[in-house]
Amino acid sequence: MSIQKSAKRITAPDILVRKGGEPIVSLTAYHAHTARILDPYVDFLLVGDSLGMVMHGYESTVPVPLDLMIMHGAAVVRGSEQSLIVVDMPFGSYEESPNIAFRNAARIMKETGCGAVKLEGGQRMGETIHYLTERGIPVMAHIGLTPQSVHVMGGFKTQGRERDEWASIEEDARVIAEAGAFSVVMEGMAELLAARITKVCPIPTIGIGASAECDGQILVLEDMLGLSPRVPKFVKEFAQIGNAIESAVQSYADDVRARKFPAQEHTYAMKGKASPATKKTKMAGS
Ligand code: KIV
Repeated sequence: MSIQKSAKRITAPDILVRKGGEPIVSLTAYHAHTARILDPYVDFLLVGDSLGMVMHGYESTVPVPLDLMIMHGAAVVRGSEQSLIVVDMPFGSYEESPNIAFRNAARIMKETGCGAVKLEGGQRMGETIHYLTERGIPVMAHIGLTPQSVHVMGGFKTQGRERDEWASIEEDARVIAEAGAFSVVMEGMAELLAARITKVCPIPTIGIGASAECDGQILVLEDMLGLSPRVPKFVKEFAQIGNAIESAVQSYADDVRARKFPAQEHTYAMKGKASPATKKTKMAGS
């Protein structure tokens, strides 16, 4: 007998057919509780390797290990019901050969229960994307600013602001679509180039710092919540959760120091007996 979950999950082919239609909505998620909150509002959740910087304090995504992606990926799958879960392949887990990429992507799919993987790179990843999709692994590609190549790019630099960069990035999009990717993240890209690629590319383009011309949008959750110490120009902070956390923590510290917390309603009494504090109040009042 099969065990069925109540909601049907969005799949990679469901995202593919959204090309040119209602904008695709996505956010990053790294743990189960936030996944539960975001799940009803998004089409897919990305367990991005940005978690290395956002949650684990690394300077870039380069040091993120595969096991960490799997641990967070599994948590997000457990916390969600309807959205497609895409898990990033970390640096070093797929570039060497299509074979190695398959082995690691299969591990991610088996051990997390996610519905797709994402990897960075355009033309150079064409063969690998083809190899994976032919063997049952849906692949989301990632072009433009590719953070795992930060050391080659010499920083997190917007792509396509010079006309002579366009041809190579357009070719990236063409190759990965032809190789079988079901969608492509375009990060840190000039608006005119993002518009040109979105117009001709047969798969949905998901923008992050690539303008409203894309078929969908993604943001890092902590950035749009106002939790990150610095955010790039393309981020809109939809809330100021960092300030809310700080003021809550300040109130907690004040209450603990003033012995106002924990109060009686937060305290367990012995079964059938008055607690010392209640006794004291009664004695004082008697
Ligand atoms: O790792 C990540 O969060 C990403 C997004 C920036 C798209 O790849």
